Amino acid sequence: MREGGESGSSEWHSIRSHSPHPQPQPLLSLSHFKNQSLDLDVDFAARVVRGTAAITLRATAAGAASPGGGVAEAWLDTSNLEVLSASAAAASDDKGKATSSPSSSSSSFSLDEPHPVLGSRLRVPLPKPLILEGETAKITVSFSTTARGTALQWLTPEMTSGKKEPFLFTQCQAIHARSFLPCQDTPGAKVTYDARVTVPEGLTPRMSALDDVEGGGEREEAVDDEGRNQKKKKKRFSFKQPVPLSPYLLALAVGDLSRRDLSPRCAVWAEPSVVDAAAAEFAEIEGEKGSFDFFLLFSWLSFRPPLSTSEPRSLSLSLSLLPFPPPSFSAFLAAVEQESMRPFRWHRADLLVLPKSFPYGGMKSLPTIFITPTLVVGDGSQASVVAHELCHSVFGNDVSCATWSDFWLNEGFTVWLERRVVRRVRGEGAAALSAASGLAALKESVRSFGEEHPFTRLVPLLPAGADPDDAFSKVPYEKGYCFIKYLEGLVDGEKGEKEKKKGNDDGESESEFARWVSERYVSPRVGLSATTEDFKAAFLSSFGDRGFASEIDWEVWLYSPGMPPVEVAAPSELGGAAEALARKWSEAADDEKLKGPPADAAASDVAGWPAQQVTFFLEALAELRAEVGKPLPASSAAALGELYGVEGGPKANADDDDKDDDATAGAGVVGGCEVLVEYLCLALAAGHPPAVPAAAALLQKVGRMKYTRPLFRALAAADAGAAREAFASARAGLHPICAKMVASDLGLAEEH
Ligand code: BES
Ligand code: ZN
Repeated sequence: MREGGESGSSEWHSIRSHSPHPQPQPLLSLSHFKNQSLDLDVDFAARVVRGTAAITLRATAAGAASPGGGVAEAWLDTSNLEVLSASAAAASDDKGKATSSPSSSSSSFSLDEPHPVLGSRLRVPLPKPLILEGETAKITVSFSTTARGTALQWLTPEMTSGKKEPFLFTQCQAIHARSFLPCQDTPGAKVTYDARVTVPEGLTPRMSALDDVEGGGEREEAVDDEGRNQKKKKKRFSFKQPVPLSPYLLALAVGDLSRRDLSPRCAVWAEPSVVDAAAAEFAEIEGEKGSFDFFLLFSWLSFRPPLSTSEPRSLSLSLSLLPFPPPSFSAFLAAVEQESMRPFRWHRADLLVLPKSFPYGGMKSLPTIFITPTLVVGDGSQASVVAHELCHSVFGNDVSCATWSDFWLNEGFTVWLERRVVRRVRGEGAAALSAASGLAALKESVRSFGEEHPFTRLVPLLPAGADPDDAFSKVPYEKGYCFIKYLEGLVDGEKGEKEKKKGNDDGESESEFARWVSERYVSPRVGLSATTEDFKAAFLSSFGDRGFASEIDWEVWLYSPGMPPVEVAAPSELGGAAEALARKWSEAADDEKLKGPPADAAASDVAGWPAQQVTFFLEALAELRAEVGKPLPASSAAALGELYGVEGGPKANADDDDKDDDATAGAGVVGGCEVLVEYLCLALAAGHPPAVPAAAALLQKVGRMKYTRPLFRALAAADAGAAREAFASARAGLHPICAKMVASDLGLAEEH
């Protein structure tokens, strides 16, 4: 366990031995009870955020004990930031009592030579060395972001759903916070923050922080007489984040945003054209399962179906279910609390639907979860991504991985909790299908990396100076999940089975493992960070003397590449049916007589299947064809698309002149992009000609890497020219992280 980071300039150590920068001495840490105070001005005309960050640093025991009389210099991470000035003020002790003369301050700084990935270390000399543990120094840095910063994406109005106003959002995970503001950019650090954000009038900022009414709330600012902004008037908004978070969770979004309340502690924020559909999609984020929630019922009734093309749940459907609430009004947030056996500490769980270029499914910047618009599909099938982000409230936010090599602690535990939540809310079948699909995704990742690849280790090996984004894959999620399920199986043994049968309706889990996780792993680390070795030590200190402890091959689980050493797969009925159907299609494709779709294939094969099951069928079919080493015949792809209705309507093929393109990506297909992209990848491999323009068109409409990366790769394999052309026209609208990954996937040089 580690309080804050061990070191000042953090990421140098969070990629630890792989860092090209020696870390000579653990210096200072952002303390979990110290604050980072921000003043930010968002200038859309100049496309920069100008700001001041007042950062309180605190000497750790190691820092105080460092040779040479304590700590004389503070280090902060920056990357592509313009540093205008920096100063350090007098130190005080933990109680705020000055330990040096109040006038002591200094104002000079230097920036190290930039490293292409890690950026520049900002060095600020302290007026007086910090000698005692707990002594603090306040560093104030004035800075401006630059066009090369990787955390910020500035969108023109055309890149938004409403097409009228510009938009800005940040994405700091893994090591991009340093290009947004100077900070100790390691998940090992924890900080509370407050912020004042000035934006052009008419736009609304949201942060990973609560509205701070006492701190000034929302107020009008003076006219900008320099005329730099598009709008003359500005508004200032105040935020505060009282719960310590790791800097990668710092987040800001500014745009034309509306709000819909789902419950007293959950609201949806989105562009006006998307907000009602989003509110309907996520109505189940909070509320008691089976209880009658008038608040949610009211939201449901006031929902107008806004997406004519994607056929969301309609008002008539909801009315037909009265007087009982629609079944989806169940309990994600409540289930997170019940399954984690912990109260939710982040005060609110709002959802912010970003424009289409947001590169991830979701980002856990609580109290504001950032999500991709591809979750708004109209059938609730992507709501588990929201469940996932809510589960990060415990694993990732309450307890963070200490370094990016320990990322599996965030994701493996989150997926484990997510499946418990899905089981509670949507039933055993849905949870088992999710686990089966996760295992298939892990197999596919290991196959495509290669069994010996260092990124297939649970604790990956990153090359010196590498960007942790480059190692991003399903491995930490699904191999992590397998490991935790394996440990759970050892601890709970027979009891695990009993817990399942019990059905879990009483809010109390019988799982000894789940209780251990809450009480012995999470509790002592709330507000702190953990390494893989911390986890292992905690587990062994509780269970080391139990018979099963000697069975665990930690070395292989944690540090060997390839698939997990022990299979933990649980049977899934829905998954089994989907796999059987996939086998039927695959065998028919290989049948000398048929060489195409199964003779009796019919729409009824998948009638009533939830979107997740259809996705699983398509994934299983792709996996089978990969094993055989032959794609589907084009005739199979054509028949499959048509019979099962997964090829997308005419909209998927349409030119990109739709007014509301965020809303139409994946339209007409149950499960939206999740199903459509899977199908298009199969169809492209099969050489089904219409898949080429359909994929090229869809790639102009989505920016979530989960879809863009495989689809660009599949398009490139089918028609390299079409992929290059699609990338050239989509590139400006893609998030820089996504553009970089796709460029590298396609073997194209990065653009600067
Ligand atoms: N915080 C992650 C997304 C992330 C990971 C951002 C690494 C930057 C670097 C988020 O919690 C996540 O895991 N999202 C998944 C959701 C899925 C597993 C349900 C995603 O975006 O695909
Ligand atoms: Zn996650």
